Amino acid sequence: MEHASPVGITPRFAGPLQVRPLSPALGAEIIGIDLREALGDAVFTQILAAWHRHLVILLRDQKLSEEDEVRFGARFGPPALVQNKQFQRTHPGVMLISNIREDGKPIGALPDGEMQFHTDQCYMERPAMASMLYAIEVPRSGGNTMFANGYSAYETLPEEVKHRIAGRRALNAYDYDNAATIRGATVRDNAPSYAHPVVRTHPATGRKALYVNRLMTRHIEGMAPHESEELLNLLFAHQERPEFVYEHVWQPGDLLMWDNRCALHARTDFSPNERRLMRRVTILGEKPV
Ligand code: OGA
Ligand code: MN
Repeated sequence: MEHASPVGITPRFAGPLQVRPLSPALGAEIIGIDLREALGDAVFTQILAAWHRHLVILLRDQKLSEEDEVRFGARFGPPALVQNKQFQRTHPGVMLISNIREDGKPIGALPDGEMQFHTDQCYMERPAMASMLYAIEVPRSGGNTMFANGYSAYETLPEEVKHRIAGRRALNAYDYDNAATIRGATVRDNAPSYAHPVVRTHPATGRKALYVNRLMTRHIEGMAPHESEELLNLLFAHQERPEFVYEHVWQPGDLLMWDNRCALHARTDFSPNERRLMRRVTILGEKPV
């Protein structure tokens, strides 16, 4: 029986993909893929389907160059060029997320500590479709990334709340200099901002997701300030409920990709004395509808 595969082990790049859910909320690990190798279309189609179904995918124990990471990301859509050259290393599509300092300056964006729930670039007309982090150095504890399921958040809202937000837009703004990780009391006038639907429809799955977040959403358009404030606080508390959240504890070699159109993310606090180094690739997205 030399040619038969052992029972329960799927040969690499053949047959059904091995997918293991990470939590009841969202997320799945994809097992048995080495991203240094080019992926055939049949395998990629299954990875894409798993990503649409689970919102976040994880591939462990990867040993990736910057090129490997960008090549995988580019299967999902066009990678964005890194805007802040200070955080770019070699490949123009790879940005560092890190608290490591050289000459007193962080080598990466979003260096330190806790970060509130948000979706990437929701303050732009065309926010990022997806973001990918590849873990190189991780703290012994903390610095976990949490993901919240925006579909579940929407679907479980009381009908009365769904009715209040139907057809509404909310202004998202981001003051990277003064409130990069925790919401500020105000945003400076020239902070980038854009109003998007409070509920957006995912172009691939057709499902509706709640598209506001605590870090960047400032106001629901056409509502009195106190009413907007009260409603947003209710929506933030609802979407961050533990049953909608998966908290990822990183291991070096983890490659994780999330869908900003239907999932939020946040980061737990970690010690400034611990090193954290991630490589990020961002995939361009469409205007939310
Ligand atoms: C990001 C981000 C969270 C983290 O890169 O957009 O939010 O865990 N990162 O570093
Ligand atoms: Mn982010």
